[in-house]
Amino acid sequence: MGVHGFAGWVAEFEGEKAGRAATPEPEWGRGADLPAALCRSLQKFQVGEDGDGANLIAKADRAGDPGYSAAVRLFVDEERNHARLLAELLGAAGVPLLDGHWTDALFVRARRLLGLRTELMVLMVAELVAVEYYGKVRDGVADPLARDVAARILRDERRHIPFHVLRLRQSPAGRAAPFQLFAVLVWRLLVPVAAVFVAVDHGPALHAVRASRVGFVLAVLRRASAVAAELSGKGDRATAPVTAPEPAGE
Ligand SMILES: [Fe+2]
Ligand SMILES: [Fe+2]
Repeated sequence: MGVHGFAGWVAEFEGEKAGRAATPEPEWGRGADLPAALCRSLQKFQVGEDGDGANLIAKADRAGDPGYSAAVRLFVDEERNHARLLAELLGAAGVPLLDGHWTDALFVRARRLLGLRTELMVLMVAELVAVEYYGKVRDGVADPLARDVAARILRDERRHIPFHVLRLRQSPAGRAAPFQLFAVLVWRLLVPVAAVFVAVDHGPALHAVRASRVGFVLAVLRRASAVAAELSGKGDRATAPVTAPEPAGE
């Protein structure tokens, strides 16, 4: 383990990368038959997954922990792979990709203004939303190719939450505990706003995979409570790499 424990995460990400390389690609050639509402939703998620990795890597490098920098690069690779998987899926369904979307442009612009810690807090909201969204798609979509892609992405997104938690739990010198508690409080207010926004914006897609908007919001809030407890030092869940899949339907 490195000074901050990110050597374990580098090994975790490397292991996942090797696993991906050894796993056959989804059967793109079979095509995909997706509800129109889900296509429109996946187009937006595809833009979001493409994200702004270079900006995050630059901030991680400035933080001065080589182990963390290496882990962040591997994390960004995973997010870019999600964008690639969604692009292939949309291609298999005969749906074009979006050049960009205003919600994503806003998200990226906001993140650029932030320091590493605050950016990770914002990114954590996206991870919580992603875990619930891909879980609902995996469990509710009829198309086997879409189910396969959602399951692959979901597996990574679940690991990203403890990865960010570990970094956020490292108190920088001089950062007072009350400030951290205030940051977590602000974050807890941000989560429901973001969850409701996504539930409305992607509501037709959630409906298409037989998931309710309210259920989606509540599930995101439940996960956010667990994360907030960990960030406030009250949680007891490990922040070491966790690869064990959660039971289906969670
Ligand atoms: Fe992702
Ligand atoms: Fe992620």
